[in-house]
Amino acid sequence: MPESTPTPKRFVDRIAAMQDYDLYRDLAWEGGFEDYLDIVRKRPQVTRNAFQRVYDMIISYGTEEYIDNKKKLVRYNFFKDELEGGKDAIFGLDIPLMRLVHVLRAASEGYGPEKRVILLHGPVGSSKSTIARLLKKGLEHYSRTPDGALYTFKWVNLKGTGLEGRDDVTGEFPCPMHEEPLRLIPEEWRDKVIAELGLSNEHFKVKCKGDLDPACRFIFKNLLDRYTGNWAMVIDQHIRIKRMLISEKDRIGIGTFQPKDEKNQDSTELTGDINYRKIAEYGSDSDPRAFNFDGEFNIANRGVVEFVEVLKLDVAFLYDLLGASQEHRIKPKKFAQTDIDEVILGHTNEAEYKKLLDNEFMEALRDRTIKIDIPYITRISEEIKIYEKDFAGAKIKGKHIAPHTLEVAAMFAVMSRLEPPKGQLSTLQKLKLYDGKVLPGYTQDTVKELRKTAKREGLDGISARYVQDKISNALVDDAGEGTINPFMVLNELEKGLSHHSLITNEEMRDRYRKLIGEVKGEYTEIVKNEVQRAISADEEAINKLAANYIDNIKAFTLKESG
Ligand SMILES: Nc1ncnc2c1ncn2[C@@H]1O[C@H](COP(=O)(O)OP(=O)(O)O)[C@@H](O)[C@H]1O
Ligand SMILES: [Mg+2]
Repeated sequence: MPESTPTPKRFVDRIAAMQDYDLYRDLAWEGGFEDYLDIVRKRPQVTRNAFQRVYDMIISYGTEEYIDNKKKLVRYNFFKDELEGGKDAIFGLDIPLMRLVHVLRAASEGYGPEKRVILLHGPVGSSKSTIARLLKKGLEHYSRTPDGALYTFKWVNLKGTGLEGRDDVTGEFPCPMHEEPLRLIPEEWRDKVIAELGLSNEHFKVKCKGDLDPACRFIFKNLLDRYTGNWAMVIDQHIRIKRMLISEKDRIGIGTFQPKDEKNQDSTELTGDINYRKIAEYGSDSDPRAFNFDGEFNIANRGVVEFVEVLKLDVAFLYDLLGASQEHRIKPKKFAQTDIDEVILGHTNEAEYKKLLDNEFMEALRDRTIKIDIPYITRISEEIKIYEKDFAGAKIKGKHIAPHTLEVAAMFAVMSRLEPPKGQLSTLQKLKLYDGKVLPGYTQDTVKELRKTAKREGLDGISARYVQDKISNALVDDAGEGTINPFMVLNELEKGLSHHSLITNEEMRDRYRKLIGEVKGEYTEIVKNEVQRAISADEEAINKLAANYIDNIKAFTLKESG
């Protein structure tokens, strides 16, 4: 705010001053078709399809390259979730995320993956849903930026044309599937228009495929008849272009399908349903304006549809899913095939996926999915970051987490996921090697070899979620007074093993108990080393350690007396 403007006294005015009115105006932009063609000529990227937009969105956050075990890897900043202060940040999964982005890139170039269901596959709690959530909220945000802008349209001035509904007071009809306005140019001459108006430029070639949805086609055809075929009249009189703001809550550009029980699924949830109230308004159930194009596939047009536990989908809807991915088309009840443009993202855990392998009905689906494994983290330093993120708030609230507490919890989690190495190497040593530590007698090539021979590594073991729950338990435990140390957390982790729902046999439970024992041993070593180092170090270091120690005690006693 400029200095000359005094701070308003009223709260409402002060709140109003925080509103970004320019942004609001941008987002609420409306214009005619001619204005839109102008926008397209200046920024043809506004016409990107869903895959191109999602890919560009990820890339727009920037990337970092680094070398890991002689391999060049890319880290996509997008997955740090800086938008929400790292709330949904993904750690330690750079390689699977590279695969995912690679698939999106190939799809955005039209090399084939755009005809597939992208299937995130992995054990329970490996962050599959988090990745889907990141993509969805990323897209919401991107659509509100100048770079991510996209447009759609509504029909206006329908009063007196015979095309307004009986109870309609506005004379407007928004495109129910939020389609790209260029679809209003009939397909027969669309390419020619794009070429002759010079809509493409050297950075982006405008391609717009597909026809309007049944309701818009109906209105379009009727208006065209009314103006005896004069396309310009239809467009000038009756089309308003507007920004499309992707929003999951408003059911615009993002759909989520979550199968309930298998008996209770209904295809209208995917492809829309007849609206009986509107039949009365429009007079017939074959009038597409009386149909709600509000199935998940409909509303997700231009964005992303997420299928939670996609393999629980009833086989009856398999064909909807296959058509949607393969042909980019859906079939709303009683209406013609309808073109869609959206990324189809599914996720599933391993047990469900195994069922798919044995099920011949589902074979068709297997063929048309691109499976991306999302395993558990096998690098302890990355696993620690999850808990640091989760429990940063606990520290703020005055809870005290002793040094190494999160580390030992992460150690146990990662060890449970590692396949026991053969020969001399212990699981703990393997954990250290995987984390980039140097152990005498082992090279980076050994690490590579170890990773290669362990086929299921990261697909079994203890999830971060289990560990998160146990740390929380320890934190709120009355006896602990909000102060926790490694032993308390390890005990909590051990206690939980006896009723962990995913531990199916005693052998496994025994193994995990032993691992906890090993972690306790390792913790004792760590502490011993620290003390020794302090004693042999210079005075300054001793003072620092002592100060640290005193701080800890202070924090503890303050808590006690407070
Ligand atoms: N690689 C990871 N990076 C960051 N957090 C993770 C990771 N793996 C698991 N988590 C944590 O565990 C939770 C996983 O939950 P979710 O995404 O629902 O898993 P899934 O859908 O695979 O079952 C996240 O909320 C996060 O706290
Ligand atoms: Mg999930």
